[in-house]
Amino acid sequence: MANADRPLALITGASAGIGEAFARAYAARGFDLALTARRIDRLENLAAELAQRHRIDVMAIPADLADRAAPALILDSIAQADRSIDVLVNNAGYGLPGDYVGTSWADQQKFLDVMVTAVCALAHPCAIDMKRRGKGAIINIASVAGLVPPGPGHTLYGATKALVVRFSQSLNQELAGTGVHVTAVCPGLTWTEFHDVNGARASMGKIPNSAYQTAEAVVEEALAASAANRPVIVTGKQNRFIVGLLRLMPEDMAMREVAKRSKAFRRRD
Ligand SMILES: NC(=O)c1ccc[n+]([C@@H]2O[C@H](COP(=O)([O-])OP(=O)(O)OC[C@H]3O[C@@H](n4cnc5c(N)ncnc54)[C@H](OP(=O)(O)O)[C@@H]3O)[C@@H](O)[C@H]2O)c1
Repeated sequence: MANADRPLALITGASAGIGEAFARAYAARGFDLALTARRIDRLENLAAELAQRHRIDVMAIPADLADRAAPALILDSIAQADRSIDVLVNNAGYGLPGDYVGTSWADQQKFLDVMVTAVCALAHPCAIDMKRRGKGAIINIASVAGLVPPGPGHTLYGATKALVVRFSQSLNQELAGTGVHVTAVCPGLTWTEFHDVNGARASMGKIPNSAYQTAEAVVEEALAASAANRPVIVTGKQNRFIVGLLRLMPEDMAMREVAKRSKAFRRRD
């Protein structure tokens, strides 16, 4: 990858869904890309398509973020290409179905490594370098689940997303005035492969299509929020309404509501 004048966006989880939509959006804005995920075939196809269509440079870096060595290896590949990261999109993630006590600790440890450790491990060196260069943006994909009280099952999901929200809010303030923007993005239901991967798709038939956003809509709102350096954004009018309403309720009442409604998209077996 030549050291171009174009800025570079590193996007995790770029092989599908919201991450792929970020890749397309930044490519259309003239960014070079470093795309990472486990499925290298998908990354390479996307990289070839976007490089040709937008005349940009695109690196495809295979990595499993459950491996604690992965963040440093991803950053090394980019440094070896003599590139700095102008935008980091910490997007990779998944839902771990089942109850806490019914899921092995090994699986939950991996989940924490992907959803929390990798996010912070990538953000740390990027934030240092961006601050030194006086510019840059970090976009962390959280979820409405990180802002509302939890229901039973998928037990660590909301907790990891709450951490991503709080981490982003704090880092946003820490970097205020440095030229580095930090934003947590909280989507609600979004049309991606997320609910196929977590096995909930079959039980979600009763949820109306209007409850979902497209990945492209989430990304457009995220880019506007990052440009405005908003620390947290809930995407979609409906999601903002739901979060606002639940915040007005006493927490135990809100928790009962979430427990009732999340049955459709939380598998507990
Ligand atoms: N869809 C929703 O309703 C929704 C709502 C709120 C928040 N979110 C959040 O949005 C983000 C993107 O999810 P999505 O909806 O776009 O889901 P998706 O279509 O399933 O895409 C998930 C991406 O994460 C990558 N990924 C998963 N595990 C990984 C690992 N161990 N190492 C590296 N990459 C990994 C996947 O790539 P590989 O499988 O190729 O590795 C894929 O590119 C996640 O953080 C999710 O929690 C989604």
